Amino acid sequence: MVTARRLIIGITGASGAVYGVRLLQRARALGVHTHLVVTPAGILNVHHELGLDRGELEALADQSHAPGDVGACIASGSFMTDAMVIAPCSMKTLAAVAHGMGDNLLTRAADVTLKERRRLVLMVRETPFNLAHLRNMTAVTEMGGIVFPPLPAFYHRPQSIDDLVNDTVERVLAMVGLEKAMPQEWQGL
Ligand SMILES: Cc1cc2nc3c(=O)[nH]c(=O)nc-3n(C[C@H](O)[C@H](O)[C@H](O)COP(=O)(O)O)c2cc1C
Repeated sequence: MVTARRLIIGITGASGAVYGVRLLQRARALGVHTHLVVTPAGILNVHHELGLDRGELEALADQSHAPGDVGACIASGSFMTDAMVIAPCSMKTLAAVAHGMGDNLLTRAADVTLKERRRLVLMVRETPFNLAHLRNMTAVTEMGGIVFPPLPAFYHRPQSIDDLVNDTVERVLAMVGLEKAMPQEWQGL
């Protein structure tokens, strides 16, 4: 497995902004260079759910790009990145990725990640799902993307919401090739 060194993180307007923020914090702690794109709805939700403003959020990334800046480096496959995680991923952005619509920098970067056969993880968040959501998740999976809804596991006996978030984020980081990530392993009963 290749060790990820450059990671694109997209944050959309789905609930669960904490996943994007925790990913940024962990990537920094692990020495991974992050490129951040946040949609306008993402900014709204980061503020609503976590009380962070745009400046505070962008300070967690190494480089931050405006969603309208389709001329940014991460819009091209010639710019080498290792992987992209959309955390959280709204049903709207899922639909755009499923249909190859590079209508903003976030969806363009996701499209590039897929075409370059790099790892793309979508932490989709909605419940319940309608047929369009399910079909879009199937399409993304068929294209090589990884649909990773942040569904907590309880077999590690989490003591707090933080435990649940950290466990999920660590598994995502391991999935994108970060060898230093530390997902909890089930050791058997
Ligand atoms: C408080 C709040 C919570 C939301 N939660 C979700 C959600 O969990 N999943 C989802 O698909 N959309 C959710 N939405 C709606 C999206 O923000 C909306 O569809 C938006 O257009 C997504 O755009 P984006 O993908 O460009 O960020 C939520 C909106 C608000 C204001």
